[in-house]
Amino acid sequence: MKKVIYKQFGGVEVLELAEVPQPALTPGAVLVRVKAVSLNPLDWKIRQGEMKLVAGSKFPKGVGIDFAGVVEAVGEAVSGFRPRDEVFGLMDVFKGGALAEYVVVPDADLVLKPANLSFAQAAALPVVGSAALQVFDQLVAVGPGTEILLNGASGGIGMVATQLARQRGAHVTAVVGLAGVAQARQWGSDVVLNYREHDVRHLGRRYDVVLDLSGKLSFHAARSLLKPTGTYINTVPGPREIVGSFLHNLVSQQKYRVLMLKPTPAYLRELAALAARGLNVVVSQTYPMADFQRAYAEVARGGVVGKAVLTVP
Ligand SMILES: NC(=O)c1ccc[n+]([C@@H]2O[C@H](COP(=O)([O-])OP(=O)(O)OC[C@H]3O[C@@H](n4cnc5c(N)ncnc54)[C@H](OP(=O)(O)O)[C@@H]3O)[C@@H](O)[C@H]2O)c1
Repeated sequence: MKKVIYKQFGGVEVLELAEVPQPALTPGAVLVRVKAVSLNPLDWKIRQGEMKLVAGSKFPKGVGIDFAGVVEAVGEAVSGFRPRDEVFGLMDVFKGGALAEYVVVPDADLVLKPANLSFAQAAALPVVGSAALQVFDQLVAVGPGTEILLNGASGGIGMVATQLARQRGAHVTAVVGLAGVAQARQWGSDVVLNYREHDVRHLGRRYDVVLDLSGKLSFHAARSLLKPTGTYINTVPGPREIVGSFLHNLVSQQKYRVLMLKPTPAYLRELAALAARGLNVVVSQTYPMADFQRAYAEVARGGVVGKAVLTVP
């Protein structure tokens, strides 16, 4: 089968389309014919060698974490899926490998695709949706009246986080690029600001929660945007931020949280349920699998509203 792999860290030029053996089915796993795979910033951060500590340096590596497709076969211990079921799910976040004609995944990492979602929309959800659910489940409580600032709200996590925050009754201020202004409004943001016109560090307001999805707003800069007991969440923490947040939380009323994504089967099931109830999943760019180099190069440059997805023939 065809699979996109790389044998050294680097730019999109290290990606190659290889002919590899189809992965073997194991008793508790499911063989899926892949139809769509989403693109995530984690893909290029790992490929560029920025996450060696957690992703390791063993090659060849695959790319693509979340996918949607059709069940081809199930292991003998699997009872929840049957051949021809339409499903979506995710690979091990740091190993990837979804950008292939077939994947084998444990049945817990898979869920039935709601009929109202296309394969592309379903593939767009697992990573960003799990991240958004984890933020509100583990890092900060958001409820009626919570004032939340989402910096980078028109990307993947922002798409889900905006809708979840609004469902919980929060007041959402979305900071986005020009291309994302209309979409951020449609997802329910109460206030939408273009980051090229407004310097987020000087908005003259304070928030209960500042969720930075851009990777550009440090805790130091965000402090002046936080109420005295507000919470800042960093989604791109390195070792310094992880230690810094721990130490800071020992002495301050303002909380400093870091996201370290741990998708769970419960999040995946919740995402399927949310999607079936009408979560708005926007895939603004699709590329055929054969264009994988162009897709990763273009999407990494930014400007994508919602998600970008590769379709597998
Ligand atoms: N820690 C973890 O475990 C974990 C897990 C998943 C994701 N992440 C990280 O979380 C971040 C968000 O993920 P995502 O999937 O939502 O990424 P995304 O789709 O690329 O969204 C990021 C958004 O930030 C916006 N942005 C860029 N520069 C900005 C600025 N100066 N001010 C305000 N917004 C700006 C971008 O807008 P434009 O494109 O229009 O510029 C884009 O919409 C990524 O860095 C990702 O790697 C971390």
